[in-house]
Amino acid sequence: MSGSKSAIRSSSRPPENGASPRGRYWRLLALSLGSAAVFAVLFYLWGRELFPRAAGRWGRTFPFVGAVALTLAVALFLSEWFGFAGREVRKVRLAARDFFFLCSLALLLFFAAKAVIDLLAEIPALGGGVPTRVYAYLIPLPAFAMVVRVLINSETSILFTVAASVLSAAAASGSWPALLFLLLSGTAGAARARRVPDRYRMLMAGVQTAPVCAIAAAALEFSFHGGGGVLWAGIFGAVNGLLSGPIALAVMPVAESAFGYASDIRLMELSGTGHPLLSRLMMETPGTFHHSVVVGTLAEAGALAIGANPVLCRVAALYHDIGKLGKAQYFSENQAGAANVHDAMSPGLSCTVILSHVKEGVRMAGEFRLGDRITEIIAQHHGTSLLYCFLDKARPMIQDRKASEQMFRYPGPKPKTREAAIVMLADAAEASVRSLDHPTPRVVDETVTGIVNRIYLDGQLNECDLTLRDLHAVGRAISQVLAAIAHGRVDYPETGKGGV
Ligand SMILES: [Fe+2]
Ligand SMILES: [Fe+2]
Repeated sequence: MSGSKSAIRSSSRPPENGASPRGRYWRLLALSLGSAAVFAVLFYLWGRELFPRAAGRWGRTFPFVGAVALTLAVALFLSEWFGFAGREVRKVRLAARDFFFLCSLALLLFFAAKAVIDLLAEIPALGGGVPTRVYAYLIPLPAFAMVVRVLINSETSILFTVAASVLSAAAASGSWPALLFLLLSGTAGAARARRVPDRYRMLMAGVQTAPVCAIAAAALEFSFHGGGGVLWAGIFGAVNGLLSGPIALAVMPVAESAFGYASDIRLMELSGTGHPLLSRLMMETPGTFHHSVVVGTLAEAGALAIGANPVLCRVAALYHDIGKLGKAQYFSENQAGAANVHDAMSPGLSCTVILSHVKEGVRMAGEFRLGDRITEIIAQHHGTSLLYCFLDKARPMIQDRKASEQMFRYPGPKPKTREAAIVMLADAAEASVRSLDHPTPRVVDETVTGIVNRIYLDGQLNECDLTLRDLHAVGRAISQVLAAIAHGRVDYPETGKGGV
């Protein structure tokens, strides 16, 4: 890409969205207290068993007093831990939904840990030769850490691993080897679930985690308790790792359905044209469908150029204009030589129809449960940019103060992620290059450069993590693919002898 040096300005950190710091603090405290109360019920039920020394000291009153004390302790732990991370770690979100999801997973893990340890101890065939403490190496934290990484992000999965290790180690009587194993195995599981576009990759992530878990379990068992249970510890560690893929695959669809997340596996399922929305787009608005497919290809190339998520970019691009369904004739890509309906409309009315496709797209994404990642990109794909064609038409009205420039801006929000920014750039570049009469590579490159600069200087990329280096790389990738598409057809001579 050439000439994009004019768009030089440092990228800015995205502003904290939502409530004020004080509001966020109180919300976090309320959420922590609510979650801690649930944990307290568990401790109320198992308090005597988990804390026998305290039970002896407090006698019959322990369950109540202990539950209250533990509510406060867990609430403090959660609010301090996630409060600090939410303020200081860029990608850790404090949305109530994420918090409830993480607490639900931690709770499920606690139940799973209790069930594994209690049930296995009841099996007579195992009970003879296997020390009870070794069952702790079967606590399925690696699977849960994988789920958090795939559905939210890596930063949150590390935080979850630490918090869930501390909480679920209580199910193993809080022993040091169990705590250290949980910390290590959860981190190993999360680390191996980087990009998981299909079930096979998820299973392979579990297979790769197994040796780490086996070695960690055997080493911890030997160092803390000697050689007696080392073999069983290694076996249980390996089984834990191997089962982490299947367990994660079982948990993910439930989490996606209950909390509205969209994993890459779900995104791949959504990319098939068998989905009712894409089928409708193909049949009712073929121009928009073709535009979306090309934007998907461009966005995928842009994402690959900077290490962003190519699956998310491609699939979100396929759906980014679903809000145009039902009003195809108002959008240029569907007019195909027919009369422009906007010629008979006022600029204000035209603008209202065009702007509404973003809001309508978000509504349809919710109705068809496309997941938060696609919905956010639909909402952000035009940011707060201007509708230049209708703005020019409305200049006289603006000069007469019968309209304002603000009326011709999309409502936003601006792109918050690199993937949303890439879709915005690909969308605008495709629309501009489509209107070219003679799209030679040089003209395509200049057009894309102009679009990238315009979007940047308009401040549309101020709230995402795209750096200047990324912006250049994305622009170059989009330009190369568009030049290949626009200039790819060879004009064969009329004799027909030149074809292949
Ligand atoms: Fe759009
Ligand atoms: Fe579009």
